[in-house]
Amino acid sequence: MKASLFQPLIIRSITLKNRIAVSPMCQYSAVDGFANDWHLVHLGSRAVGGAGLIIMEASAVSPEGRITPDDIGIWKDEHIPFLQRITSFITSQGTVPGIQLAHAGRKASHQSPWKGAQPLAKEEGAWQTIAPSAIPFKDTDPLPEAMSKNSIIKLISDFKSAAARALQAGFKVVEIHAAHGYLLNSFLSPLSNRSTDEYGGAFENRTRLLIEVVHAVRTVWPHDYPLFVRISATDWADGGWTIDDSVVLSAVLKNINVDLIDCSSGGNVAAKIPVGPLYQTAFAERIKKETGILTGAVGMINTTDEAESIISNERADIVLLARQFLRDPYFPLHAAKNLGVDVDWPNQYLRAK
Ligand SMILES: Cc1cc2nc3c(=O)[nH]c(=O)nc-3n(C[C@H](O)[C@H](O)[C@H](O)COP(=O)(O)O)c2cc1C
Repeated sequence: MKASLFQPLIIRSITLKNRIAVSPMCQYSAVDGFANDWHLVHLGSRAVGGAGLIIMEASAVSPEGRITPDDIGIWKDEHIPFLQRITSFITSQGTVPGIQLAHAGRKASHQSPWKGAQPLAKEEGAWQTIAPSAIPFKDTDPLPEAMSKNSIIKLISDFKSAAARALQAGFKVVEIHAAHGYLLNSFLSPLSNRSTDEYGGAFENRTRLLIEVVHAVRTVWPHDYPLFVRISATDWADGGWTIDDSVVLSAVLKNINVDLIDCSSGGNVAAKIPVGPLYQTAFAERIKKETGILTGAVGMINTTDEAESIISNERADIVLLARQFLRDPYFPLHAAKNLGVDVDWPNQYLRAK
C-alpha cells in the first residue's frame, strides 16, 4: 500500500498530490512588498522538490501590517503580476500555491532578523503599530495604539481585498494568519486583549474579529477553494489562550467554511515552550478528533518517519515543514524514496532518480 504521506488530499475542488506542505516562512527580501527573483527561486525550488502545497510567507494586507519593511505585501494591485509568475511556476510542477494573509499588529515595525530585529527607529521609517489594547509585546517595544471601530472595519476590508488579489494572482489556498502574536492572535488571548468593547472580554467577543475576517474573505474567495486558518493553539501561559479555547474556536470556524486549522502555538506572550520533536502535533490531533475539521501539524517535524507517522496515525491531515525545507528543498522526493513510493520527478532531473 502507498504510504499515507503520499495519499492525495482533496479539499473542495483542489487536490494536493501528497500531505507535505511548505510552512509559510518570511524571507525578509521584498522591497515595498514586491516579490522578486529570490521568492520565485526559493518557492520554485520547493515545488521542484515535490511539495504538495506551498504556503507563501506572511503577506501583509496593508503596509503597516508588515513585521519589517522587507516583508511581502499584497495591499496593492501592482503586487499581483510577480506573484502570478510565482504561482504559475509552482502550478507547473504539480504543486498547489497558497498564501498566508497577515497583519503583524503590535509586532510590526521591526528590523529584519539579520538587521538586528529591533523596533524600527524613526529614521528607519518606524510606523505606529496597532493592537486590541495599548500593551506592547515586549517592554522595549513602542506602545501600540488600541484599535478603534473604524480601524477594525478597515482591517477587515484589507483582508478581503488581499484575498481578492490572491485569487487574481493564481493562489488556490488562502491561509489567514491568526497565530504567533500577530494582530488576529492578539485579539484572541485575554493576556493581550483587555478591550472592553464588543471585541474584548468574553470568548465570543475576543473571537469576533477573526470570525468577521473569515466571513469577509469568504465573500471573495471562491467556495470551491480551500481556506485555512493558522492559530497558536495555546499561549503556553497562565491565564492565556488554551487548547480548550482552540477546540471551541475550531468548531466555530468549521461552521463558517474554514477547511483546515494549521496548529502552531505561542508567540503572543513571553512563555517557556517545551520545544522538541512533534511538540505541537498533539494540538492538531485533538482539534481534528474533537471537531472533525481537517488539521495541519507543524513544528519540529524533520524526518520521513515523523511525517509519515503523523499522517498514518491520523493525528493530522497534512504536515507543514519549515526549517527542514530550508535544509532540504527536495524533502518530499527523498521521503518518497525512503518510503519506497514511486513519485514523479521533474523530467529534467530524471537521470538522478
Ligand atoms: C525563516 C522562518 C520564517 C518564518 N515565517 C513565518 C511566517 O511567515 N508565517 C508563519 O505562520 N510562520 C512562520 N514561521 C514559522 C514556521 O512556519 C513554523 O511554524 C516553525 O518554524 C516551526 O516549524 P519547523 O520546526 O518545521 O521549522 C517561520 C519560520 C522560519 C524558520
